[in-house]
Amino acid sequence: MSSQALDRLTDLYARGEPIVMLTAYDTPSARIVVAGGVDVILVGDSAAMTVLGYSSTREISIDELIMLTKAVRRGVTEIPVIGDLPFGSYEDSDEQAVRSARRFVDEAGCDAVKLEGGGVMVPRARAIIAAGIPVFGHVGLLPQSVRTREGYRARGRDPEQAFGIIADSDDLAAAGCSALIVEAVPAAVTEIITQRVKIPVIGIGAGADTGGQVLVYHDLLGFTQGRLARFVKQYSTAHESLAEAVREWSADVRAKRYPAVEHTYPITPEALAEVRQRLEN
Ligand code: KIV
Repeated sequence: MSSQALDRLTDLYARGEPIVMLTAYDTPSARIVVAGGVDVILVGDSAAMTVLGYSSTREISIDELIMLTKAVRRGVTEIPVIGDLPFGSYEDSDEQAVRSARRFVDEAGCDAVKLEGGGVMVPRARAIIAAGIPVFGHVGLLPQSVRTREGYRARGRDPEQAFGIIADSDDLAAAGCSALIVEAVPAAVTEIITQRVKIPVIGIGAGADTGGQVLVYHDLLGFTQGRLARFVKQYSTAHESLAEAVREWSADVRAKRYPAVEHTYPITPEALAEVRQRLEN
């Protein structure tokens, strides 16, 4: 890794201590993530689905993601923030990739950017790194390439695919990537990648033989409704407990229990008397 902000991650990797990465998409979620002791924040394009209500990550624009990333950065000075290059913002040319990456650094204060895929994306990663911006690669399941629900299945379970993912990992590491996200890949394949590349492998659904783990904030905390990916472990039932709080407040309003005296602003009897008197005149 090259930038100072990423030095701590390099140290963790060198000591063999797992890097803990979590997504966040706004100031309060970023503050919760920092308070929870996480090492690095990814403002993932998963924001498309977790906070903007789109049906895939392909629909979020760079402007939308930069707005969210700026909100995260305002809440976080302590740890690195990684921006996620969204679908359509980097694939066409090295120039486009560098221009988009610069926006995440200059406008949103990111310490690095992430892009999805190997192959033709390797030169894109190399160009961004040459422009002085650290890059996190992403191999395995690539959500920006998924068009159907079935498309979210694991990758690299057949030899051909596994070989391709390993080759992409090698190429991205050789291109100078600072770290590699490996998503939804058999643990044994991740193990091979971890042994081959000399950069942190941060897994999501990729087993335990990694240099760290990343999850989506809304999955971890129980905001996500419906079927969850196999690799998600929920540590909270935020959706249910927050809905319960709203239900209680609604019931209090309807029963006229809220607001109580302690929730209202006082006025002195003298001031009130003066108001009444003026109204009468
Ligand atoms: O967008 C995202 O949240 C991601 C993680 C799943 C790694 O890319």
